[in-house]
Amino acid sequence: MTIAHKSTTGGLSVRNLHKTYPPDIVALKNVSLELEAGTFTAIIGPSGCGKTTLLKIAAGIESYQHGEVFFAGERIAGNTSWKRSVIYQDVRLFPWLTAQANVAFALESKGLPKAEARKQAADWIKRQGLEAHADAYPAELSGGMRQKIGVCRVLANEPELILCDEPFSALDWTARESLQLELLHYWYDQRKTVLFVTHNVEEAVYMAQRVVLMSARPGVIKEIVDVPLPEERWDVRRESPELLEVARYVNNHIADEVRKAKEAELEVGY
Ligand SMILES: Nc1ncnc2c1ncn2[C@@H]1O[C@H](COP(=O)(O)OP(=O)(O)OP(=O)(O)O)[C@@H](O)[C@H]1O
Ligand SMILES: [Mg+2]
Repeated sequence: MTIAHKSTTGGLSVRNLHKTYPPDIVALKNVSLELEAGTFTAIIGPSGCGKTTLLKIAAGIESYQHGEVFFAGERIAGNTSWKRSVIYQDVRLFPWLTAQANVAFALESKGLPKAEARKQAADWIKRQGLEAHADAYPAELSGGMRQKIGVCRVLANEPELILCDEPFSALDWTARESLQLELLHYWYDQRKTVLFVTHNVEEAVYMAQRVVLMSARPGVIKEIVDVPLPEERWDVRRESPELLEVARYVNNHIADEVRKAKEAELEVGY
């Protein structure tokens, strides 16, 4: 089955990217990756292979030595924009603002009038079923609730490129599933470009149209696996044979990488 790549926004283009942290830590080596506009791509790779570095470079908050990074035709080289947002594993909400005010603040920063920002923030919070906590401060929320508010804060701003750095990995299953579906529906409706880093093979395969497999540091892209499942993933059973088959393939790849690394006497942790 082929996956339609409907395109409403510009894509991400990474060419021959090379990143060394001082003094000589090679984080990314000659990485090239093309994300067509409006597509959902996951990245899986061992700890330390440069996934976060790649996201930071795409967000414009990290520099690099060689290569080219473009999004929607604009060269990214240390320049940030609300159009390219990161959802971190541990979102950092402003502790002095309520849940709703955190979301509204992001909307106001983008230029929305105060009243409209407040209204849209309330709608987002309601959709998460958190209206009873709209006036709570971050310290009064559970970790899962904080993450939900953090995700709302990013999505409400309608970034064109959504960079996800293991955004749901610290959550319990219910919160994780609810946010996975929120992001999937958002992507399906809005057709933004999503790059989603995770250590969880099942999550990668369930969420993405393609899974990029990286090797141990220095990060090199080893393979890109297409996920031949419908875009309406919420209709796909997590134990469906098609999904499990792709997951098995990815797991075998990981096992190979770990074996090769062991032979080379390197420590590799996925
Ligand atoms: N600011 C920094 N200064 C020096 N080295 C860094 C810095 N940030 C990352 N590194 C190194 O660069 C390499 C890649 O790090 P990165 O955080 O991108 O890996 P990752 O794939 O996201 O790992 P994980 O799966 O554990 O999150 C690692 O060896 C790391 O120690
Ligand atoms: Mg990381």
